[in-house]
Amino acid sequence: MADHDQTLAVALKGYAWLPDLRRRAGGGAVRTRVMGQPAVGICGPAAARLFYGTGNLERHTALPALVVHTLFGRGAVHTLDGEAHRHRKALFTSLLMGDGVDRLAELTRQEFDEASEQWRGGPPVRLFDESARIIARAVARWVGVPLENREINALARDCVAMVDGFATVGPRAARALVARRVQERRLSRIIAGARAKPPSPAPLSVIAHHTDEGRLLDPRVAAVELLNIIRPTIAVSWFVAFAAHAMDMWPRHQARLRAGDDEYTLAFTHEVRRFYPFAPFLGGRAVRDMFFQGEPIPAGTLVLLDVYGQNHDPELWPDPYTFDPERFLRAEIGEFDLIPQGGGDPRTGHRCPGEKITVALLGALSRRLAELDHYLPPQNTGIALSRIPALPRDRIRLVVPESSA
Ligand code: HEM
Repeated sequence: MADHDQTLAVALKGYAWLPDLRRRAGGGAVRTRVMGQPAVGICGPAAARLFYGTGNLERHTALPALVVHTLFGRGAVHTLDGEAHRHRKALFTSLLMGDGVDRLAELTRQEFDEASEQWRGGPPVRLFDESARIIARAVARWVGVPLENREINALARDCVAMVDGFATVGPRAARALVARRVQERRLSRIIAGARAKPPSPAPLSVIAHHTDEGRLLDPRVAAVELLNIIRPTIAVSWFVAFAAHAMDMWPRHQARLRAGDDEYTLAFTHEVRRFYPFAPFLGGRAVRDMFFQGEPIPAGTLVLLDVYGQNHDPELWPDPYTFDPERFLRAEIGEFDLIPQGGGDPRTGHRCPGEKITVALLGALSRRLAELDHYLPPQNTGIALSRIPALPRDRIRLVVPESSA
C-alpha cells in the first residue's frame, strides 16, 4: 500500500507509475491514494471485466476536472452514466462503427497522396504534424464541416493541443484549454448552421439534430460531441508516428506492409496499439462494495485499470517488449485482452467506439508510408515514458527524395 498521495508520482513517472506500484505490491490489486482519494489499481482481463461490469463503476464522479476540461469537454459522453450514457453512446456507435469507415479511410489515403507529393525533393517534414493535418482534412470532409484549409490546419493544431495537454498542469494544459474554447465556439456556430438545414446522414447533421429526452443538445454540447469524433481521429497521428518508429527500428515490417498483405497490416495495427504508450490507465468510482482477487474494494473507491501494464503483461503477451505483429496472426483477441482503447462491448459500456476508425486509418497510413520511398535523417526518436502522452522526441522527421524515375 502506498500511504502517501501519488498524484505527483503519476506526473513524474507517467506510464511506469501504476505498473511499478503493482510490481512493488506483489502484482495483484494495489491500494494507493490519488487526488487525495483512496484508490485501487488493478490489471488483467479479469480486472477489465470488473471495470466494465454493468453497475460496478460510475464515471461522472471519477474523472479529474482537468481531463474533462481539456480532453473530453463538459457534458461529453465520457462523463455520462446509466441510461443517459447508453442513449448518447448509440449516437456514436451508429456513426462510427458502420460502412462509413471505408470512405473515411479512402479520403485519408487521398489526402496522404496529395501531401506526400509535396514532400518529394523537399526539406524534412515532421510526420506527426503532417499526419494530423492530413487526417484533419479527411475527417472534416467526412463529418461534413465546411472549413477552409487554413481553418482545418488550426483545427488539427488545436486537437493535438487538447490531447497533448490533458495529463499535465502548466503551459500544455493552458494551451489545451484555449484550443478547446476556440474550437467549441467555432463548431457551435457550425452546429447552428446545420440545424437550419434539413437533416442528412453526415455526422455533423446527425449530431446537430440528435435529441436527448426530446430536446436538441445544447449547441456547445453538440460541438463537444462533434469534437469527440474529430479530435481522436486526428489523434491517430500519434499511432502513425509510432508506426513509423517501428518501421525504422525493425525494417522488415516495412517490407511486409509494402507487400500489401491485409491480414498482416491488421496485425501490425494491433501491435502498434498494444506496444506503444497512449492511454496510461482508466478510472471509475466503485458504486458498490466489491472484491477483486480477494481484495475488498469498498463503494466510493477510485478504481484504476492499468492499461499500459495490461498491454505489456507477459502472461497475456509473451515477450511483451518485443514488437511482433505475428502474435496477432495466431490469436483470437478476447473482449478484455487488448485494451489500448478500453475493453468490453462499446455499445453498452465506455469502450472506445472509434477502434474501427483507428485500425482503418492506421492501417491505411502505415501502408502508404511503407510504400513511400523515404528515409529518416539523424534525429532523436527516443520515447520518454514519463511524458503523457508519449511521442518520439523529434516527432519523426522524414525526407522523401526526388523520384529516381
Ligand atoms: C473512449 C482511446 C480513437 C472516440 C476512449 C477510451 C479510450 C480511448 C482509452 C476510454 C474508454 C473508457 O473510458 O472505458 C483511444 C485511442 C485512440 C482513439 C488511443 C487512437 C487515437 C478514437 C476515435 C474516435 C474515438 C478515432 C472517434 C472517431 C471515442 C469516444 C469515447 C472514446 C466518443 C467515449 C466512449 C464512452 O465514454 O462511452 N477512447 N481512442 N476514439 N473514444 Fe477513443
